[in-house]
Amino acid sequence: MQRVRKAVIPAAGLGTRLLPATKAMPKEMLPVVDKPVIQYIVEEAVAAGIEDILIVTGKGKRAIEDHFDRSVELEALLQDRGKRNELETIRAISEMANIHYIRQKEPLGLGHAVWCARRFIGDEPFAVLLGDVLIQSEEPALVQLLRRREVVGGAVIGIQPVAAADVHKYGIIDGVEMEPGLFRVRRMVEKPRPEEAPSNLAILGRYVLPPQVFTHLEHASAGALGEIQLTDALAQLAVESDVYGLTVQGRTFDIGSPLGWLEATVAMALADPALGDGVRRILYRELERTPGR
Ligand code: UTP
Repeated sequence: MQRVRKAVIPAAGLGTRLLPATKAMPKEMLPVVDKPVIQYIVEEAVAAGIEDILIVTGKGKRAIEDHFDRSVELEALLQDRGKRNELETIRAISEMANIHYIRQKEPLGLGHAVWCARRFIGDEPFAVLLGDVLIQSEEPALVQLLRRREVVGGAVIGIQPVAAADVHKYGIIDGVEMEPGLFRVRRMVEKPRPEEAPSNLAILGRYVLPPQVFTHLEHASAGALGEIQLTDALAQLAVESDVYGLTVQGRTFDIGSPLGWLEATVAMALADPALGDGVRRILYRELERTPGR
């Protein structure tokens, strides 16, 4: 089976739910504790053995490129001031992986963002990690998907159960459970109304896909909300080949909404050995101060 060496991180959405924070900066650059979200995602890809990463950018491209580039002036300054730890941290970021960029000229949807990667990917399987989905887990989510793919082959998509009231926010799968946590996908629906949802299993933003998906993206017409949807292309792929949904172990945060970003920040800060106790004290104090409702 062909090894997965390349990953695509779509990061060209408008981020309207986080305006005005995202007016001049992509949401993927928002910090969660002390790192921009996209750095966690690059780290997840690297942990899964990915060698080349294509970031699909839109507005605010500079901020992302600068973050993963070397900063010679900053390095010299930190060296002069004897700040060794900081120097190492900064250098490590620019040495993480081979990172490439392509610009999605118009935000025509996630499917279109992935489509922009077709030349970079060529004829091999690849991973997609959404730039605004953070997963806190013992084993990185992409590692979980790749491990499963080695056994079952085909396309493997990360899923998690969500509350019935939330199915309209996600792509939802209809599948047959082959073994605990692994579903063979029959159908997929993007953002269904609760009464139309075939299950409560939501696609969470991590995918391992075969290159054939580009054929379906090419033919994709504008789906839900007038954008070219990845889910529609995957639904077509599922008709002709094996597409699996794998329940990912871990906590998923959609940092593209204000509450999701706040929840990620609190959860990650509480889990941080250096910050956890301090954050807990702040939270208790704030809760006492704020009149309950
Ligand atoms: P979302 O649908 O959450 O992004 O896309 P959005 O359009 O930025 O969100 P709002 O609704 O305006 O707040 C999920 C992921 O796909 C990327 C986003 O950057 C995000 O990482 N995306 C989305 C693109 O790269 N291009 C697009 O055209 C749309």
